[in-house]
Amino acid sequence: MARPLFRAPVGTRDILPPESARRRRLVRVFADLAERSGFGRLESPVFEEIGVFQRLGPANDVVTKELFEFFDKGEPPRHLALRPELTASVCRAFAEHRPTVPWKIWYSGPQFRYERPQAGRYRQFDQVGVETLGTDDPHADVEVIGLGVRFYEALGMRRVRLLVNSLGDAESRPVYDAALADYLRSRRDELSEQSRVTLERNPLRVLDSKREQDQTVIAEAPVMADFLSGASAEHFAEVRVGLDSLDAAYEISPRLVRGLDYYTRTTFEFVADALDTAQNAVGGGGRYDGLVEELGGPPTPGIGFALGVDRILLACDAEDVFGGDPAPVQVFVVDTAGGQSAVVICDRLRQAGLGVDRAFDSRSMKAQMKRADRSGAVVAVIIGTDEQSDGVVTVRDMRPGGGQRRVASAHVVAAVTDLLAKGVP
Ligand code: HAM
Repeated sequence: MARPLFRAPVGTRDILPPESARRRRLVRVFADLAERSGFGRLESPVFEEIGVFQRLGPANDVVTKELFEFFDKGEPPRHLALRPELTASVCRAFAEHRPTVPWKIWYSGPQFRYERPQAGRYRQFDQVGVETLGTDDPHADVEVIGLGVRFYEALGMRRVRLLVNSLGDAESRPVYDAALADYLRSRRDELSEQSRVTLERNPLRVLDSKREQDQTVIAEAPVMADFLSGASAEHFAEVRVGLDSLDAAYEISPRLVRGLDYYTRTTFEFVADALDTAQNAVGGGGRYDGLVEELGGPPTPGIGFALGVDRILLACDAEDVFGGDPAPVQVFVVDTAGGQSAVVICDRLRQAGLGVDRAFDSRSMKAQMKRADRSGAVVAVIIGTDEQSDGVVTVRDMRPGGGQRRVASAHVVAAVTDLLAKGVP
């Protein structure tokens, strides 16, 4: 009977080499930037008690429809969920450990949302991000947003736009929410059916609708900017001055609302023009000055962002930047004399810090040389029966015009290192 052929679950993918190496390189670029800016890495669990995520907003899709939730085998069983994002976990960790502030954290890893999969939207996807907890200094907002800007630049991306907005504070927000709800109700009949449902649950989220039918009503809706309290307006002004001083181009987007409900004051999104509009948000974030308290901690302001690794790489492909890794294999060892020499020489070259690969299964010289060519190696070290009986190896420069010479096996590391240091012949 034929055995079943399993595939990765819907909405997930295997990331094979060499793409996996490119992702690792991306995370390294991010980690370098973050650590040079004083952020330390937090590694938190992939799942949490479901209550941690329910604080993200009880009416939010991410919580009501998209959580991967399960019960463990405890007595009584605990209700848990795979994390759909990391800000809640960071705030939970802050409330649990009470570190000194400002607490500057970076992270990377997989997130899980039960969404309808399509290009750039998956059920398991990777994010990198930062969070700064314990300060509401507008310069902290600028530092966070600036780090995002510099990261996209470091990847070579040119077509990422930064949209910013302020959603107001505890004083101004309820006034705005009420005005917006009144306005939307007054034009309820013109809204799409889905937006009428959203209106009753969370009026602000209607502004997020991409449906054609809603666009006129949205375009004429009151904007938060007209409702900001004095303190919020001043905070937002200082953030903009900071961004100007970094020469970071941005657009004020008065109707930018984010997909999660915890935001206060500064919110922002990075949009890749190289991608289709449905999935062009390559990152986003903002302030969440009430979230730590929601999770049982002391009142603690916070700001951060998360960037979608999968979408960033799609956008890099579309922009033709941040391409393939230079081959990590520098040396290929070809052994047609039984393979034992290759075992030892590979080990010595690797211990010397070089990238080294070899063939197996006693393949012919021709077959092994073909592998060597394909590996991207610059140098081949060849051991045939002749070499073996003379106690030497042949070191061949595989670059166009490169020559070859025999050296005593004992000197192979020095000979290869010399050749690599020489550059193109
Ligand atoms: P978010 O906007 O939900 O924010 O997600 C951030 C980024 O993750 C998105 O801009 C997108 O690039 C990527 N992303 C989200 N969902 C998917 C998906 N299903 N497939 C592929 N990529 C996806 C947050 O997660 C907040 N925690 C950001 C934050 C941090 N706010 C404050 N601090």
